[in-house]
Amino acid sequence: MSVIVELVTAGIRAAFPQLGEEPVDALVSVPSGKVSTDAMYQSNAAMRLAAQLKAKGTKMPPREVAAAFTAAIPKNDIISGYEIAGPGFVNIDINTSFLEGVTTKLLNKGVLPPEHTKQPVIVDFSSPNIAKEMHVGHLRSTIIGESIARMLEYIGHDVQRVNHVGDWGTPFGMLICHLRDKFPNFQSEPPSISDLQGFYKAAKKRFDEEPEFKPRVYEAVVKLQAHDPETILAWNLVCDVSRREFQRIYDRLDIDVKEKGESFYQDMMVEVVKQLESAGKLEEDDTAPGRKIAWSSVKKETKVPLIVVKSDGARCGMTGYTYDTSDLAALRYRASQATWLVYVVDNGQSTHFQNVFALGRDMEWVSPKHRVDHVGFGVVLGEDGKRFKTRSGDTVRLKDLLDEGVERAGAAARTTEMTPEQRARMVEAIAYGCIKYADLSHNRTNDYVFSYDKMLQDKGNTAVYLLYANTRVHSILRNPEIAKQNIDIDALAPSHTVTLTHPKEIKIAKYLARFPEVLNRTIDTLMPHRLCDYIYELTNVFTEFYQECYAVQKQSDGSVKVDVNRLMLYKSVGMVLEQAFHLLGIRAIEAI
Ligand code: ARG
Repeated sequence: MSVIVELVTAGIRAAFPQLGEEPVDALVSVPSGKVSTDAMYQSNAAMRLAAQLKAKGTKMPPREVAAAFTAAIPKNDIISGYEIAGPGFVNIDINTSFLEGVTTKLLNKGVLPPEHTKQPVIVDFSSPNIAKEMHVGHLRSTIIGESIARMLEYIGHDVQRVNHVGDWGTPFGMLICHLRDKFPNFQSEPPSISDLQGFYKAAKKRFDEEPEFKPRVYEAVVKLQAHDPETILAWNLVCDVSRREFQRIYDRLDIDVKEKGESFYQDMMVEVVKQLESAGKLEEDDTAPGRKIAWSSVKKETKVPLIVVKSDGARCGMTGYTYDTSDLAALRYRASQATWLVYVVDNGQSTHFQNVFALGRDMEWVSPKHRVDHVGFGVVLGEDGKRFKTRSGDTVRLKDLLDEGVERAGAAARTTEMTPEQRARMVEAIAYGCIKYADLSHNRTNDYVFSYDKMLQDKGNTAVYLLYANTRVHSILRNPEIAKQNIDIDALAPSHTVTLTHPKEIKIAKYLARFPEVLNRTIDTLMPHRLCDYIYELTNVFTEFYQECYAVQKQSDGSVKVDVNRLMLYKSVGMVLEQAFHLLGIRAIEAI
């Protein structure tokens, strides 16, 4: 695309010398499926240029501006023609020979990632809380975060996948004390997670109701902060119970995330508070004795401060830190480790992150060179439009949600000859693929409606539709006639030169060539639905291609013609689809 940007910019400069050194933007993009053009690129520069020219005294309608700069674009062997549409959009089409080159490279070398300078990136995602069930909000974070991490890794960044689990604070004092009382032999018989939740509720009840329990809890927290070995052991046991449950979900969904929970920043919080104190950022809060708050430079926007020190600290002879403090410490630490920090956490925490990031910048822990993103997302809704709940109104357990997905996918799957193991793998790929894709294909900032019925449909923008298309590619490539004629596609692919003649061949090649640009945009905006939109369009175009362009065809004389070049195009489609599936965390299936 950069070549096109250069050419269009050159055209603009040549057509309008009166703009002098004034910056101009070629505004080149890849038209999305909603635009009724098969052009490869589009420039939306004319509208803005018309305004710039007007300011310089040249009145010219955008369509004329478009005509003038396209006429001035230097001669080249890439662009084949222009079309001016609507108020002044320029559709730019490119030469088939250029496209053939792009497709040949894709086929020969594989789906290469767009080039980027390697950066250390931290992606904070999933991040459930110990002793609590991982809920659908964490599922969204897990799915989106995994996909973003895969994309960043693919383009060559050095990615740390961080699970910021909630594993610290007063609740753990309660859990530890209650554990000691109820399960004296807890070391040999660890309780299960559902127990652990009820267990936490019971511990909390005692904390609220039993006067002699409270001081023990505070003592346990102090001991935990002081790394007392016996207390740490009990704490680890509690954490392990949850950890195992989380890991079961991660294993099922192919999630890779390393635990570095709130506790990891424990000692760093002391330093953070010290620094805030000496920078004069800490204020006593009048409403609660002992509580210390800090305002960030976005005070006007957020209207709430960060709570850095808890009010109940003094009561138990320790400084009580909060979720805010741990995030400040985490930010400072992460900024020393990476230049790009990504936080995949629900929209409900956006004020929190605005404040944390702003204070981090105010304190210069985060430099202007750092990129810090809160990748927010909406809530999961049931089909009734209300928060996703079970029929009895309870929160849905992720295990049950995945189980039901597998059950429903099993019923929807087509039956072919497969071993039970193959079939189980296929059904899982469909179920988890559908759950992930339904999440990723929606603009993440919106709430989304969770519906098995919708996500398992084989038409429309669903994983099933895309997975089926890919199995079609594979079944064409498996056609027995190919082997009969001694054609080895995999052996030929690295050196085959693609030719494009049929209009649908040209069209599919254009869509294949867009992949790197779409990926760049997806990563720039951290919006996975852009990649989903793209593969959905690609699949639609593939369906047209598939209907019109046969690769293996019986001739009138009874012989069978195998069109190797077409097979190579099929193979290229499969390569791009499978790369995209991988980036979305979806397992491809070859047969169904
Ligand atoms: N444990 C938190 C929750 O369940 C999410 C943590 C997100 N990450 C962070 N750095 N705050 O709400």
